[in-house]
Amino acid sequence: MKKIAFGLSAVALSIAASTGHAGEVEVLHWWTSGGEAAAINVLKEEMVDAGHTWKDFAVAGGGGESAMTVLKSRAIAGNPPSAAQIKGPTIQEWGDLGFLTNLDDVAKASQWDQVLPRVVSDTMKYDGHYVAAPVNVHRVNWMWANPEVFRKSGASIPTSWEQFIVEAKKIKAAGFTPLAHGGQAWQDATLFEAIALSKGSKFYRDAFIDLTEDTLRSKDMVNVFDTFKQMREFVDPGFSGRDWNIATSMVINGDAAIQIMGDWAKGEFTAAGKKAGIDYVCFPAPGTSDAFTFNIDSLAMFQVDGKEKQAAQKDLARLILEPKFQETFNLNKGSIPTRLNMPRDKFDTCAHSAMDSFLASSATGNLVPSMAHGMAVNSMVQGAIFDVVTNFFNDESMTSEEAVDKLARAIKASM
Ligand code: GAL
Repeated sequence: MKKIAFGLSAVALSIAASTGHAGEVEVLHWWTSGGEAAAINVLKEEMVDAGHTWKDFAVAGGGGESAMTVLKSRAIAGNPPSAAQIKGPTIQEWGDLGFLTNLDDVAKASQWDQVLPRVVSDTMKYDGHYVAAPVNVHRVNWMWANPEVFRKSGASIPTSWEQFIVEAKKIKAAGFTPLAHGGQAWQDATLFEAIALSKGSKFYRDAFIDLTEDTLRSKDMVNVFDTFKQMREFVDPGFSGRDWNIATSMVINGDAAIQIMGDWAKGEFTAAGKKAGIDYVCFPAPGTSDAFTFNIDSLAMFQVDGKEKQAAQKDLARLILEPKFQETFNLNKGSIPTRLNMPRDKFDTCAHSAMDSFLASSATGNLVPSMAHGMAVNSMVQGAIFDVVTNFFNDESMTSEEAVDKLARAIKASM
């Protein structure tokens, strides 16, 4: 009965769109790589099919730092876009500033409270009201590998960071780059948090959610920095400043063995026509098989003037949670649907493994928010961690003990 009612309202909305209520949505995002662009195009096409106009506001730059800078200047000028890719605690920051619009009517009609896992729906709300629509769930603690490079190097897939170092040496000796990496602060932080997670979810939570000083200054944290610095030995000389998708292409082309990156990397393999389990393999980052670092992408909706624009914005929010969009978008993006109980048959083995791990880790308490991707702490604390992590990676003379001290101080100062 509910399904029929919902179907009718969807038809009514699209008729409304094609009979004069068509409006424009301007959408800010940073999805410009091959896989990312294929994914966002799905949404663009659905909006155009519903009779609306899509104004693309893409600001290139993985991790979204540049996009957020541009968004701030547009908002300060009093001219924010209809929707922007804003995630996690940052949604609260924009809510506090009074920029976001209430989506409760769309959410109620489409039963978001019922179809979304709690960890997702909570993040989409400000002050108890929906203000953002989630497009996906990314797993961040992944290791992408080229099996041919491993075979030629006589190396095995590592399951701990100690073993990673042993295998990476073999790969290097065979003439390949062991670790495809781009030296940008958010990519450094992605690698760093994967190493930290291998100390256990409790350690990770204490350090990056509760920001406990004892944990930040602990021996384990010194050890995390030690391992992180050792990775310098395994990147190629051109790593500095490289975009993440160029690093992925090094694994795709067989120049490099491994990339530690969230599953948007899978979007690049897919866009290049590569098949999971054949051309490339996916494993949890070493020592993190029980855990799942989540990164939920969402479009937060800004207050806009004009009935047409508002109607288009609500249509955008509604379409995002529809099963068809959730499937097609996530097949291209490399992530898993945010909606519960979706059919799994079109997804590959890496996505199945992410789906299983998402459920298992939520039951065991090993589902943790990604610090590197803005899910764990606000943007001030995140920026403070990024600075220490990236400076340490690039400064050969800084010791791990110094880094730990700087980390604890920087976090305190930013709180
Ligand atoms: C993440 C974002 C992903 C992916 C990645 C690289 O922060 O959540 O969707 O696009 O950046 O750009």
